[in-house]
Amino acid sequence: MDRATLIEMTKDALEHGKAGTMRLAPEVLKVKADIYTDAERFEREKKLIFRRMPLMLAPTAELPNPGDYKAMDAVGVPVLLTRGKDGKVRAFLNSCTHRGTAVAQGTGNASRFICGYHGWTFNRDGELIGVASRDDFGEVNTDELGLKPFPVLEKAGLIWAILDPNSTLDINAFLSGYDTLLEGFGLESWQFFQSRTLKGPNWKIAYDGYLDFYHLPVLHADTFGRNIPNRALFYSFGPHTRVSAPSTVLPMPEGLDLADLAQKDTSEWPTEALMNGVWTIFPHISIATFYGGQRGVMISQLFPGDKVGESFTTQMYLSEKPLTDATRQGLEDQFKLLEYVVQHEDYGTGLRQQKALDAGMTEHVYFGRNEGGGQVFHGWVQKLLDTSNDDLNSLFAPVRQAAE
Ligand code: FES
Ligand SMILES: [Fe+2]
Repeated sequence: MDRATLIEMTKDALEHGKAGTMRLAPEVLKVKADIYTDAERFEREKKLIFRRMPLMLAPTAELPNPGDYKAMDAVGVPVLLTRGKDGKVRAFLNSCTHRGTAVAQGTGNASRFICGYHGWTFNRDGELIGVASRDDFGEVNTDELGLKPFPVLEKAGLIWAILDPNSTLDINAFLSGYDTLLEGFGLESWQFFQSRTLKGPNWKIAYDGYLDFYHLPVLHADTFGRNIPNRALFYSFGPHTRVSAPSTVLPMPEGLDLADLAQKDTSEWPTEALMNGVWTIFPHISIATFYGGQRGVMISQLFPGDKVGESFTTQMYLSEKPLTDATRQGLEDQFKLLEYVVQHEDYGTGLRQQKALDAGMTEHVYFGRNEGGGQVFHGWVQKLLDTSNDDLNSLFAPVRQAAE
């Protein structure tokens, strides 16, 4: 864990809070409104971003034990994540090498996967270990007929995969050092509580909201936002941005005052206090802390839908410690509130935004100097659309060096 950088960011947020200031981007960014409505561009985004970038497909907590697996759809690609006997996570195209149907559904624990069509069998490492009625079937080279593997990396209690078996992109370089900050959560030992999926507008309209504190006291006035300031500090590491509020009080359960912290050496600052705010992971993840019942995080995982104006967000709720009878209800209530807030307030507004932009009469939208996170995000989306496969690694490598 890069504790020094976490402390630096926290000091920065406290100092800005004390001074009543924030850092502003150099200019207002004007973005063409059709980035949210253009179907042709949408297909390119899916191909050049979601099929090329590492995607955080599951937290470690969702498949913590050997034999645990998760089958899922990721941008139209059926994916199977498994944890082997060796404890390693692997990712495969969830498609039987006989005639292509999926070999697993949902989540569970299994030592092997028997295809439900004709019964070919694969082990957790993706190897084909059984061909039904082999003598009748005829000669095939089983060594070549394992499930197709995707590049995968598990770090900071999170699992990334690239949905391109031939990708040469270095996932570590892509992470740009941000993973060493995310390690501050210690997510590898957290518990998976619940998940659900919500429908929303274009994936960028949905994602913009996670990078934006400007809307909190307005859009969320009726739920949690009425007295929340609309200022934010943005810390970007490569394409990934952490959003934090400039404040003299750290938002922990009992609130931790700057005056109290200043008395103590930074070595005594609790790591928990350094992890507040929203941690976005490009291109489609947001992690935020909540204290209903006990400390938890909601991981929001966004995927573009079939159409340009559609996205799906899986909300996964993790709790730091095992639940007790006393805390379970608090978590339930917190997670229920977050469903309401995101579905009705954020995505309700986003769907109306989508509809208005779909009318095609809005030429531009704007990201203010106070909305630096959105500015960085849209800059990266464009950069990736403009970058060829050959140049992909060079896009991230220099950032990694700077972060080390
Ligand atoms: S498609 Fe899987 S065994 Fe035939
Ligand atoms: Fe919101």
